[in-house]
Amino acid sequence: MTTFGTPLSPHATKVMLLGSGELGKEVLIALQRLGVETIAVDRYDNAPGQQVAHHARTLTMSDPAQLKALIEREKPDLVVPEIEAIATAMLEELETAGVVRVVPTARAARLTMDREGIRRLAAETLGLPTSPYVFCDSLEELQSAIDNKIGYPCVVKPVMSSSGKGQSKIALPKDVAPAWDHAMAGGRVNHGRVIVEGFIDFDYEITLLTVRALGADGKVETHFCEPIGHLQVSGDYVESWQPQPMRPGALESSRAIAKAVTDNLGAGPDGQPAGLGVFGVELFVKGDDVWFSEVSPRPHDTGMVTLCTQWQNEFELHARAILGLPVSTALKSPGASAVIYGGVDAAGIVFDGVADALQVPQTDIRLFGKPESFVKRRMGVALAFDDDVEVARSRARLAASKVTPRVA
Ligand SMILES: Nc1ncnc2c1ncn2[C@@H]1O[C@H](COP(=O)(O)OP(=O)(O)OP(=O)(O)O)[C@@H](O)[C@H]1O
Ligand SMILES: [Mg+2]
Repeated sequence: MTTFGTPLSPHATKVMLLGSGELGKEVLIALQRLGVETIAVDRYDNAPGQQVAHHARTLTMSDPAQLKALIEREKPDLVVPEIEAIATAMLEELETAGVVRVVPTARAARLTMDREGIRRLAAETLGLPTSPYVFCDSLEELQSAIDNKIGYPCVVKPVMSSSGKGQSKIALPKDVAPAWDHAMAGGRVNHGRVIVEGFIDFDYEITLLTVRALGADGKVETHFCEPIGHLQVSGDYVESWQPQPMRPGALESSRAIAKAVTDNLGAGPDGQPAGLGVFGVELFVKGDDVWFSEVSPRPHDTGMVTLCTQWQNEFELHARAILGLPVSTALKSPGASAVIYGGVDAAGIVFDGVADALQVPQTDIRLFGKPESFVKRRMGVALAFDDDVEVARSRARLAASKVTPRVA
């Protein structure tokens, strides 16, 4: 995109976010700052991103007919998926027909929608190192995969799920049936299909934010942010920090894996421009060994730390890259993030202790404004920066702990 229009005029540059949670909200803010007209779509009213966009639309994004009607009516220049559960086959159709450009590409959205597409691409097409895995459609298949190929311990996950939902670690034969039941209850769309993966005993795990953006010559360039370390509890992120110290060999392998995956996912359909934007590449590291785990073709939740660590945070990087603008992934300061959970199941909750939290030096807070809280729903995040990443981590944790959500 070389010319930018005026929002709410016939020549506006229009971007539609499919999914308008806390990550989408920050992308929308970044787009607004560039004078882009924004349309925030979600499955419920007053989603965080809908509160900051020019237009809010509520519908079922996994319904192809609803999605098609919306895109044809609004005619955005770009469609930016923020979640996985959308009608990606319809997006592919519309992209092929030249109706819309999908970020990074509709194919990338389809392949990363469930664990099978991306795992087969990474391991079987690209030959990248991953945990050993088998896809299973029944408890019997799961047991046989563990007995014959994967062994114990292992991890079972529904093919369609995120944030650790329906996921469990299996240490012993007695855990297999409960893990199957848990996966069936936790999958987003009940396909009755799971992946079982060998457990990787990693030293640490990272998200390598990888950005495909246009250079001065109009060609796609790949940029890497400093690696983000993170801590997951029950498959959900609770803390992240940047930079994660790494051995040079491990960093080099991580970048090579991220480049291979994003080159493939970013390749444009025949005759179409190549895919641009931020990718969150999740990797496991042990010594100099690196395993590919999964990738989001969009900003990553653990990357919220960049709100306080980079000159251009991951949301600004995404906004700039998808609009064809140059980017910088330079670090401003080491820092950390810590999640603020809802702690209660209630609508319209209130937060105490925000001022106390911000008394912790070099911290900041984001409250996402979600209309409804659940005990384990992410409602906000505390951010901290410091030259010493460990100091930043403890400050972020402390600040997060001082914010207390409660029923109003
Ligand atoms: N094969 C494995 N070996 C060891 N740990 C694993 C394995 N698979 C997953 N984990 C742990 O569980 C976490 C969540 O797994 P994964 O990223 O696959 O699930 P997810 O539901 O997609 O999570 P999210 O959407 O939050 O990224 C990983 O970050 C890692 O800590
Ligand atoms: Mg993950």
